[in-house]
Amino acid sequence: MESEHLFKHKHLISLADLSVADLDLVLQTAMSFKEISARSIKKVPTLRGRTVINLFFEPSTRTRLSFEIAAKRMSADTFNISASSSSTTKGETLVDTVLNLEAMNPDMIIIRHSSSGAANLIKRHVKNASVINAGDGTHEHPSQGLLDLMTVREHKGDLAGLKIAIIGDIAHSRVAHSDIIGFTKMGASVAVSGPATMVPTEVEQLGARVCLRPQDAVTDADVVMALRIQRERLMDPLIPSLREYATFFGINKKLLKLAKPDALIMHPGPINRGVEIDPDIADGPNSVILDQVTNGVAIRMALLYLLMGGE
Ligand code: CP
Repeated sequence: MESEHLFKHKHLISLADLSVADLDLVLQTAMSFKEISARSIKKVPTLRGRTVINLFFEPSTRTRLSFEIAAKRMSADTFNISASSSSTTKGETLVDTVLNLEAMNPDMIIIRHSSSGAANLIKRHVKNASVINAGDGTHEHPSQGLLDLMTVREHKGDLAGLKIAIIGDIAHSRVAHSDIIGFTKMGASVAVSGPATMVPTEVEQLGARVCLRPQDAVTDADVVMALRIQRERLMDPLIPSLREYATFFGINKKLLKLAKPDALIMHPGPINRGVEIDPDIADGPNSVILDQVTNGVAIRMALLYLLMGGE
């Protein structure tokens, strides 16, 4: 049955801004767009004439490319700017850069930045373009949260009542923050675990249960998600060594014996094989890590469509 709910948002900065009905509409829309990517001719005219700018100040494989593929599959014109190719290297501020981009009349600016709050800052300064947060510092990565919801819903059906375990560097993970918000809104329960230096108790305010031992988070879980140690964001070494991290918090067969036998294995990528997850688990039968990437295109098609006023 088609949703009667109207999507009234112009920007996507945080999953906290979306209602359950909004989340549901994005997931339904993504499901309906997913088959376009399975066609031999992967293009529809839905966003013909629209202009999408990818403004990425941090490295990205999955997010940048899937936004570009999503826009192109919907016939929008896409342009990419990276930190090294933008005039911020000459001292221009982020706001000035975006105001100059807006002077060229794009419909959408998708921004990834190392500073938490950068996407919100841009949203407050643009007049006409929509803004999508493609990851801002340690704050949020809402489109990743949505593709994670979609992947779990595709495999498990209703999200309500599911047990989600997220293991790793919760403090620095914008993915964890968006996932906690998204999964709890949809009625799932989220337990997090990692080294004490990487699990702030504030995540309890987002709705997650904090477990000191990964075994407690993983017991009876329907989904086990591993997170990368974000070495690029660590000022001080918060763990003694990667080997020790792998021993105590790595996702391996022994730990997974505690989860449900059909528990999904997830990871937002990029993966550090042998650190946060054993290779045989990442490549094993319960892994949906590449399904997450496939669904990333569908979710981003849905977001471009809905945020630019699709009906
Ligand atoms: N999951 C994710 O954001 O990956 P990228 O950094 O490659 O975009």
